[in-house]
Amino acid sequence: MLVLGIETSCDETSAALVTDGQTILSNVIATQLDLLRKYGGVVPEVAARRHTELIGYVIKQALDNAGKTLDDVEAVAVTARQGLIGCLLVGVAAAKSISYSRKLPLIGLHHIEGHIYANRLSNPGMPFPHACLTVSGGHTMLLYVADGNRYELLGTTLDDAAGEAFDKIAKFLGLDFPGGPVIDKLSKEGNATAYHFPRPMLRNKTYDFSFSGLKTSVINMFKDKVAAGKKLPLADIAASFQEAVVNVLVAKTLRAAETKGVSTVSVTGGVSANSRLRSAFEDACKTRGIDVYFPALSLCTDNAAMIAAAGHARLMRGEVSDLRLNVVPNSPLEG
Ligand code: KG4
Ligand code: ZN
Repeated sequence: MLVLGIETSCDETSAALVTDGQTILSNVIATQLDLLRKYGGVVPEVAARRHTELIGYVIKQALDNAGKTLDDVEAVAVTARQGLIGCLLVGVAAAKSISYSRKLPLIGLHHIEGHIYANRLSNPGMPFPHACLTVSGGHTMLLYVADGNRYELLGTTLDDAAGEAFDKIAKFLGLDFPGGPVIDKLSKEGNATAYHFPRPMLRNKTYDFSFSGLKTSVINMFKDKVAAGKKLPLADIAASFQEAVVNVLVAKTLRAAETKGVSTVSVTGGVSANSRLRSAFEDACKTRGIDVYFPALSLCTDNAAMIAAAGHARLMRGEVSDLRLNVVPNSPLEG
């Protein structure tokens, strides 16, 4: 079963061809880094316009890279829920056109379900049930994943997403965009105990997160010291900030796993590429006898292969959309 996946929920225009929800034949991702650098972040209308310019080429490239044509495609899966409305509309319009003209099943998906399946693409044997932390530029969600299609939201961020905090701190410090990979790299040269930043919501009994106060604390400390004429080592600030985020993410996820009685943890989304987050999870899970899984680095950030994989699973359960499929910018991940 050859599924064409399409993902345009934020600033990546992506199309992929995946067979049987498992084998990636192609996964083309056109980033908007030039626009991100120019505007210092995602401007929704500008991102949507870029998607319209690129979507046709990206789909054609995905077909060419896989050595396939639209005649070979058997279903179309697309991100329809959670994201920027104008951006989502571009992908859904493209998917509907192909579905209608080729009489192919159409599957509209929640973006986070894609991130969950990114980890299953990389680790086909990853068992259920498990606790899943999805951390990216737009989301920080802790989920109990009962099986391939039943999710319970345990907690989410009350303000900034984890990746958003990385990006904003990097911007404040004058570093490149996106900030996550830059802070990850810079932190390797820094001392993570140089500054003690708050661990927001760490002792709070809920599974919710909050990163806005931590961000403010870093910014205030920086401004105070600079005002006092001190020169600050950016690598130490980056490493100390990163450590605070990692501590909270690991502690809350493991508490959720223990409370839910699961011995498997899945970490997905753009921030799951973070090297310190990975090592901290590995160390903490080892001592507790918990297995932790991460996607391949190429599948951490937004891509259409994860959408094709999630779409295939829904199709196998007979869950398809029709041409009335609409986009929903803020949508719970139910089901
Ligand atoms: O999953 P993704 O592509 O987009 C959303 O669904 O939001 O994630 C992008 C986010 C950005 O905030 C980026 O800074 C962050 O993932 N990111 C990282 C790393 N690589 C990407 N954050 C920390 N460390 C990294 N190595
Ligand atoms: Zn994402």
